Amino acid sequence: MTESHTILVTGATGTVGRQVVAELLARGHAVRALTRDAGAAVFPAGVEVFQGDLTEPESLVPALEGVTGLHLITFGGAGFAPLETGPRILELARAAGVRRVTVLHGGGPSLLEDAVRADDGVDWTVLMPVEFMGNALEWADGVTASDEVREPFVGRLSAMVHEGDIGAVAAVALTEDGHAGQEYVITGPELLTVGDKVTAIAAARGRDITLVELTREQAVAQWRAAGQPEDVIGFLLEAYGNTPEVGRTVLDTVEKVTGRPARTFAQWAAEHAGAFTAGA
Ligand SMILES: NC(=O)c1ccc[n+]([C@@H]2O[C@H](COP(=O)([O-])OP(=O)(O)OC[C@H]3O[C@@H](n4cnc5c(N)ncnc54)[C@H](OP(=O)(O)O)[C@@H]3O)[C@@H](O)[C@H]2O)c1
Repeated sequence: MTESHTILVTGATGTVGRQVVAELLARGHAVRALTRDAGAAVFPAGVEVFQGDLTEPESLVPALEGVTGLHLITFGGAGFAPLETGPRILELARAAGVRRVTVLHGGGPSLLEDAVRADDGVDWTVLMPVEFMGNALEWADGVTASDEVREPFVGRLSAMVHEGDIGAVAAVALTEDGHAGQEYVITGPELLTVGDKVTAIAAARGRDITLVELTREQAVAQWRAAGQPEDVIGFLLEAYGNTPEVGRTVLDTVEKVTGRPARTFAQWAAEHAGAFTAGA
């Protein structure tokens, strides 16, 4: 066991943050979790919960006391609005003695990420995951209701990554040397079509799923009906219809950083089979 650290995880109730918490705990570190609503948040035993809001940096001061590492998100509030408080958060972190920072890249430029990259007082690592395997949970309602997945661009390829592996890379970068100044593009171990994913989920839950291919227009109508904002619809059309090379290229980042292979989509599907099973 390496030295034990105290790490503050922001976004700790989120898809990635929960995994950063779990991976740090599994490695024997002391974990603090930030949430805007400490009363509502549920964390594993041993996690110290702090209430705070990234849009109000001073609210982080108690949580930062005695912390050696800090995991950051780049957004705060409704609609993933980019945080404008990055420079102040970094100032407070440095003053508290934080030595290592990871930041979850938000898919575009952000003031917070710029502030992290410009900070030569801390060892920073930018985490740039491709598509999360967890996005497949969007299919859970359709699958449990009608054994169907309705998607456009079903042949698109994705190197999608297990959230646990993003958490594992973060946990290592926050607690071990050798990751300062790195931008880690984090992927899964294989390229998958939508059909591959549907087949894996069907196998995991033990019941067939029909994949219905939507036209672009049908997909837009479905996303609008689900309440997706127009900018998100535009993003999805571009990401799915014209996936950039980085999103469909398998890299060995997870294995290099954590020492074990990236988790497969079949593993993810087995862990989440209950979400795709009516009455589970
Ligand atoms: N989905 C993908 O395929 C994908 C791929 C690559 C990158 N990304 C990036 O991943 C990020 C989303 O991560 P996620 O899915 O883990 O998020 P998520 O599940 O939506 O969780 C959001 C988290 O942010 C926290 N939060 C929001 N506003 C806050 C504030 N003002 N102060 C403190 N905490 C705040 C929430 O905490 P509380 O509610 O508990 O306060 C919650 O823990 C985005 O930047 C996205 O661009 C996503």
